[in-house]
Amino acid sequence: MANVTLEEVATTIAERIGYGATVVGFTGAGVSKASGIPTFRGAEGIWERRNVEDVASADALRRNPEQFWRFHDTLRPVLATAIPNSAHFVFAEMEERVSEDVEVAVVTQNIDRLHQRAGSRRVIELHGDALAYTCMKCGDKPDVPIPAPMYPPRCELCDGVIRPDVVLFREVLPPEALSEAQDLCSRADVLLVVGTSGLVEPAASLPYLALHAGALVVEINPTPTPLTGYVHYSIQATATAALPPLWERIEEKLNS
Ligand code: OAD
Repeated sequence: MANVTLEEVATTIAERIGYGATVVGFTGAGVSKASGIPTFRGAEGIWERRNVEDVASADALRRNPEQFWRFHDTLRPVLATAIPNSAHFVFAEMEERVSEDVEVAVVTQNIDRLHQRAGSRRVIELHGDALAYTCMKCGDKPDVPIPAPMYPPRCELCDGVIRPDVVLFREVLPPEALSEAQDLCSRADVLLVVGTSGLVEPAASLPYLALHAGALVVEINPTPTPLTGYVHYSIQATATAALPPLWERIEEKLNS
């Protein structure tokens, strides 16, 4: 989309946020980059240095839980100490400040809780939560200190291996989260796609569902993705550079 201004994009978005509208944010690792959490792909991405099959697959957890957990304990301190950035706060403010007739939700692939910590209340976690845990034997939901006291951490009740509540490679997404995300995207008036490479299914199909259903779809990402050619507006910038000024303009128009 050549030479589009934030002003134009904001005007078009604001026109769609009428009575009964649904506005959905669909986010990926890029939205948390400014909080110091690395993305998965790209030059400094987590999967550039690690093989996802070895450290984040269902097989890896079964075959070598110690290696699996040692990898997770390189990420957990980063996730646990990160603080939300201005892009996370935009979604929380939007939910707080738009008229109560407008539905606002965030569908995220992130496992870092930063949307919730910024204040968003309606957050659908497609890929789970890396800071919550379940015993694979008895189903207890214990806390696991950082770093873990042993590798792998074991349940105090039954000695079963504990796992993080994340969707691992080759596992299915939580069905309720996926169907809620599909429902939201298929009736969204506006979908803001922020900081995702759009390469991991089934999440990657959600923006196409929204496009097909007639939503206005805006992508914010410094790098083109497979979705870029299909969206109504592509803003090639980081989340923290584009989202706050875009929201400021949208809010001005909604209040004028
Ligand atoms: P990726 O690492 O695949 O993509 C991150 C995207 O963010 C890329 O398109 C970057 O161009 C973009 N980006 C980088 N910096 C940015 C910034 N400051 N602002 C905005 N965008 C920026 O991450 P995801 O698309 O989230 O799966 O990856 C999808 C899934 O793959 C993840 O949820 C994870 C991973 O394997 C699970 O954990 C199950």
